[in-house]
Amino acid sequence: MDFWEVIKKRHSVRNFLSQPVEKERIIEILEAARLAPSWQNRQCWRFIVVTDKEKIKKIGKLNPLNYNINFFLQNVPVIIVACANPKESGRRAGIEYYLVDTAIAMEHLILAATNLGLATCWIGAFDENMIKDVLKIPQEIRIVALTPLGYACEKPSVVDRISKIVARGGTRKRLEEIAYFNSWGEKLI
Ligand SMILES: Cc1cc2nc3c(=O)[nH]c(=O)nc-3n(C[C@H](O)[C@H](O)[C@H](O)COP(=O)(O)O)c2cc1C
Repeated sequence: MDFWEVIKKRHSVRNFLSQPVEKERIIEILEAARLAPSWQNRQCWRFIVVTDKEKIKKIGKLNPLNYNINFFLQNVPVIIVACANPKESGRRAGIEYYLVDTAIAMEHLILAATNLGLATCWIGAFDENMIKDVLKIPQEIRIVALTPLGYACEKPSVVDRISKIVARGGTRKRLEEIAYFNSWGEKLI
């Protein structure tokens, strides 16, 4: 797929086919994450690929910390959990770079998945302790994000449609609202 096609095609999907994802494809998208830039090239990230149905069900279970909408995760073929070891990254002026490193790698992974015709949805609302427990993740490791991975259902679900309205999915600010020229507020175009 052409670069711009990938960028434009990526969107959050919340309705997946049960069709499993081929192992070679999972490896290919993990490879895209592996090549991401990071603080001092320390590569603090770790990715857990979850295909075990029982574990997926537990991760998607309703809990007070998710939007009550992430229950769609219970029925996805794969969940990728992006973790980080904060000690393998840095901090400057209050910015924790393990979050930055892992977010960049996760977006590499998500775009590589799009390139292969796979669907994803960045998930930030999750119960970290519960997932750590299910996946035996050590205490010092943080979970930064998750994404389901699989083939999208042609028809968006009710959850898809509600999420698109609540999170204004698909819409973006105009370029002049987010980009300036030489100083803050100066028009670029
Ligand atoms: C940091 C972050 C956290 C997010 N958390 C959730 C989430 O918990 N559940 C969900 O359904 N979508 C979540 N999203 C997806 C956003 O709602 C979505 O990216 C946004 O509405 C734009 O829509 P699009 O991805 O289809 O372009 C999250 C996205 C980001 C970047």
